[in-house]
Amino acid sequence: MARILVTGGAGYIGSHTVVELQESGYDVVVVDNLSNSDVTVIDGIEAITGKRPNFENVDCNDYIGFDKVFDRYPDIVAVIHFAASKAVGESVEKPLLYYRNNIGSLVNLLELMQKHKVNNLVFSSSCTVYGQPDKDHLPVNETAPRKEALSPYGNTKHINEDIIFDQSHANKSLHATILRYFNPIGAHPSALIGELPNGVPNNLLPFITQTAVGLREQLKVFGNDYNTPDGSCIRDYIYVVDLAKAHVLAVNRMLEGKATDKVEVFNLGTGRGLSVLEIVNTFIKVTGVDLPYKIVGRREGDIEKVWADPTKANKVLGWKADTPTDEILLSAWKWELNLKKKRERK
Ligand code: UD1
Repeated sequence: MARILVTGGAGYIGSHTVVELQESGYDVVVVDNLSNSDVTVIDGIEAITGKRPNFENVDCNDYIGFDKVFDRYPDIVAVIHFAASKAVGESVEKPLLYYRNNIGSLVNLLELMQKHKVNNLVFSSSCTVYGQPDKDHLPVNETAPRKEALSPYGNTKHINEDIIFDQSHANKSLHATILRYFNPIGAHPSALIGELPNGVPNNLLPFITQTAVGLREQLKVFGNDYNTPDGSCIRDYIYVVDLAKAHVLAVNRMLEGKATDKVEVFNLGTGRGLSVLEIVNTFIKVTGVDLPYKIVGRREGDIEKVWADPTKANKVLGWKADTPTDEILLSAWKWELNLKKKRERK
């Protein structure tokens, strides 16, 4: 069976994708430096799928170490590149770290793919490349203009997309799929893998579940004076398992030679925008848990509203993100309770 190299495969979206790849019959080798993940995630993947992916503790910035991975697994037919630093605020404090990690690793990867004649790449991009789309571009589709990034993190996604376009032009054999994620949330229904934020979470859902479980005192809702129906920001929250499945379809499409462009771009979202307050109230409703929160001022750099037009992915990949929000929020809660149990056992 064909082998897929998954960089960042011990991370949040990466681990859910490894599960889906293995369940679709692929062999997987995970390359991860565990900078923002834990090796026990590999145990979780094995517990779910009954199969342990090969694991290489290698930094994608370590060219020689990364080269050896390609030597060790001559059956790699495609790469899914998740490995990256992803905290927006940290990227403002440490831009060079972000440029080194996120740009350097992609450059190494593309060189090594060319050297080892691996010709299929799926790249994790973000709706951050659209910035705040204009009114007539909401919901946003893939033809909307990319806007200047608001953070070094966002800029690395923009630059990495450009690097892929340039390299696909130069390397005639390379095929790439750029997936622009909206806001991934939730955890595998088994609660054996999920999001493992490092320190205080920046993202909404892990902050909600950590507050609900008592790890944080109170959720801060950043702003209720936006130009939206309830005044809080609107995002397209997509279930991480639905998102993971899109990666398998993207790999299949390239391996089956069905891609019509050398680089194909897909938005991965639900097509439905939800406000912060809608998420908070739905979480309280479905879990029955008390969630202390207060409205505070806006967070710098936040986009007012963005949600996807996922028609292209629906039609071309035959993919749809249709898990109900209640179910997604419950999966996140179940995962948080599982983490609590683990802490108590220690
Ligand atoms: C952020 C990044 C995005 C990145 C993604 C990675 C910004 C502007 N965007 O997306 O580029 O790809 O993370 O995961 O930082 N919120 C609260 N209270 C909280 C946390 C969040 O009210 O404690 C609100 C935010 O103001 C926002 C919404 O929840 O309206 C979602 O926030 P978050 O989960 O951080 O995602 P994004 O900001 O959309």
